[in-house]
This record gives sequence, C-alpha cells and structure tokens, in this order.
Amino acid sequence: MARMHAEDLIIRPAQTEDEKELSALNRAAWSWQSDVAPQPAEGDTVFDERHTPDQFLLALLDGRIVGYIRVVPPTPLASNGHVRQIQGLAVSSGARGRGVGRALVEAGCAAAAEQGARRITLRVLGHNAPARRLYEACGFVVEGSLAEEFLIDGRYVDDIWMARSLLG
Ligand SMILES: CC(C)(COP(=O)(O)OP(=O)(O)OC[C@H]1O[C@@H](n2cnc3c(N)ncnc32)[C@H](O)[C@@H]1OP(=O)(O)O)[C@@H](O)C(=O)NCCC(=O)NCCS
Repeated sequence: MARMHAEDLIIRPAQTEDEKELSALNRAAWSWQSDVAPQPAEGDTVFDERHTPDQFLLALLDGRIVGYIRVVPPTPLASNGHVRQIQGLAVSSGARGRGVGRALVEAGCAAAAEQGARRITLRVLGHNAPARRLYEACGFVVEGSLAEEFLIDGRYVDDIWMARSLLG
C-alpha cells in the first residue's frame, strides 16, 4: 500500500469555508460500520450551532480534505472539564491505510492536551474493527461497553467506550 511522505500531509483547524468539501466527505464516508444514524442527505451541513468549525481538525493531501476529527468537551459541566471526547472521525475511502487516521487521532489528542485536558474518551461500535485497531494503536484502552446498545441493519451491536490519558 502506498505510504505518504509526512510532509505531504497537512493537519489544520477547520474554517466555515470548508463546509462544502467536508460535508461531501462526511456523506461519502458514511456506513453502518461506523454510524448509528442514517446517511446524511445531500445538502445536509456538517457545521451547525452545536458542530462548530473550531471543534474540527482537517487532514489535507494535495490541497484536498481527506479526513477530519472532531474533539469536544463531553458535557458543559465544570466538573467534567478535564475531559475531551472524540465525537467524529473519518478518512475518505481513497486515502485510508496511509496513516491519515492515526495522524488525526494524534493531532486531536495533542489539541485536547493543549486545552488542559488530562483524559480523552470515545465511543466506537463493537463491529468497527478498523477504528478499534486504530484507537488501540494510538494508546486507547477499553474501559467499558454497553451490550447490544444499537440495532443496526438488523443486528444488535455493542457500544464500546475507550479512553486514553493525556498526562505525561
Ligand atoms: C477508521 C479510519 C478513520 C482509519 O483511517 P486510516 O487513515 O485508514 O487509518 P491509518 O492508515 O492511520 O491506520 C492506523 C492503524 O489503524 C488500524 N487500521 C486502519 N485500518 C484498518 C483496517 N481496515 N483493518 C484493520 N486495522 C486497521 C491499523 O492498526 C493501522 O496501523 P498500521 O497501518 O500500522 O497497521 C477509517 O477507516 C474510516 O474513516 N472509517 C470510517 C469512519 C469510522 O469508522 N470512524 C470512526 C468512528 S468511531
């Protein structure tokens, strides 16, 4: 599989102007392996009042957006303020297997640490093997699971909770 040169990949914060390209990527990357809601319709936007550009980091290859990660506080509570959560990660199918996902997860963790978080969490479907391997490779460990939490495409699927310390 083709490996990219590290200097080819750019990771940068999202901007409002990225909406069109990002929503197209998000729609194309959708599948029941990773998603719990139906595929976004054409014209659906990624950014809204709760999904703001400052929450997203984008991966670009040759000037085109090939992936994104969204990292947010899991709740607005001050008592929960030391935690960040990955609530969105996707790489376009043509750019997978080249380290883009790993680079996005590492960049998301670094951004969370810069914001002062000491812990980062995520939820992943039990049957999403590529994502689970990626998170494990990035140092996340399973902390729990909700058995048969989702009924997806006729099958009950577990909701796996993973976390990684941002200290040290
Ligand atoms: C999961 C996803 C983001 C991975 O992106 P990617 O750019 O292909 O991942 P990388 O190339 O950085 O792979 C990093 C590691 O992840 C694991 N991995 C990635 N794809 C894999 C696959 N198809 N099968 C098994 N392991 C895989 C491997 O451990 C890999 O390390 P290696 O290359 O040293 O073997 C991508 O497949 C995707 O967008 N999937 C759909 C959306 C999704 O599942 N999002 C997560 C929701 S929780």
